[in-house]
Amino acid sequence: DKPLRIGIAGLGTVGVGVVRIVRKHAKLLEDRAGRKIEIAAVSARSRDKDRGVDISHYDWEDDPVAMARRDDVDVLVELMGGSDGPAKAAVEAAIAAGKHVVTANKALLAHHGQALALAAEKSGSVLRFEAAVAGGIPVIKALTEGLAGNEITRVMGVMNGTCNYILTRMEATHQGYNALFEEAHKLGYLEADPQLDVGGIDAGHKLSLLSSIAFGTQVDFDAVELEGIEQIELQDIEEAAEMGYRIKLLGVAQMTGRGLEQRMSPCLVPAASPLGQLEGGTNMVVIEGDAIGQVVLRGPGAGEGPTASAVMGDVIDLARGLSIPTFGIPAAKLTAARPAKAVVP
Ligand code: HSE
Repeated sequence: DKPLRIGIAGLGTVGVGVVRIVRKHAKLLEDRAGRKIEIAAVSARSRDKDRGVDISHYDWEDDPVAMARRDDVDVLVELMGGSDGPAKAAVEAAIAAGKHVVTANKALLAHHGQALALAAEKSGSVLRFEAAVAGGIPVIKALTEGLAGNEITRVMGVMNGTCNYILTRMEATHQGYNALFEEAHKLGYLEADPQLDVGGIDAGHKLSLLSSIAFGTQVDFDAVELEGIEQIELQDIEEAAEMGYRIKLLGVAQMTGRGLEQRMSPCLVPAASPLGQLEGGTNMVVIEGDAIGQVVLRGPGAGEGPTASAVMGDVIDLARGLSIPTFGIPAAKLTAARPAKAVVP
């Protein structure tokens, strides 16, 4: 078989991780995918930056849109981030050209997922985003494949490692929110716009994507009730601990009589429960289904290796010819997340 050729847009931490895996595991990937996986081209803001990995033998493109359209690129791997701008333009260009897309971009999909999934299905592209939710944890594959025989009753979890880091460090060090925010900042954990993390927005993006897959609804990020962690005081955490609880930024999605309920907010969870035992930058997703009961997935929600691991899982799926719909069912069959407003007489 012909090799599958990828074009990587964005060479930050995750992009470099993808380059490393493609190099290190060339033989393993070929055996698993049944064909070679090669990097045809790369694109990023700066060509000359020292990334600790040699990119000189890949074709360079200044413009990610041009790269997405190249004849020798079968799959666009979009790792630039941002809900609009170049990331959206490159993904749209790839889809219009009938190419597959693998992205880690939760903001893009939370805002434009429905339109992109519809466009992809129309052009015969496959759009996959395992790395966008809970980093390395294969939660999308769990929902769309392993648990596809279940009616999902609830999905919940801790999906922002930075917030979990700040909260668990507040408890461990008895320091206030501001000091731990600074610590997280120094360690490079915070997004370029920290509000995405501490405002619960990044985690809300992820929850809106999981909700769509779990309940067959259109992604509706605006319907997520959002509350971040900035108001949490050390006293709240210590009082919770005295009662046997911990405070987690917890996302919960469940179907109710009033439609889909999606909440991302600081919650008290029993300290002895799996969620209560979650430390540091780790993520946890709890899925409840009618046949399976409960599944708990825990793992690294960010970082080079974990996120690149999820990206490569999608790339290998595409190399194998797997074409699972973006949100588990065809985009046109996804229902509105919110019921039409009741008419008050
Ligand atoms: N800022 C995110 C987190 C990175 O802390 O979980 C992964 O999306």
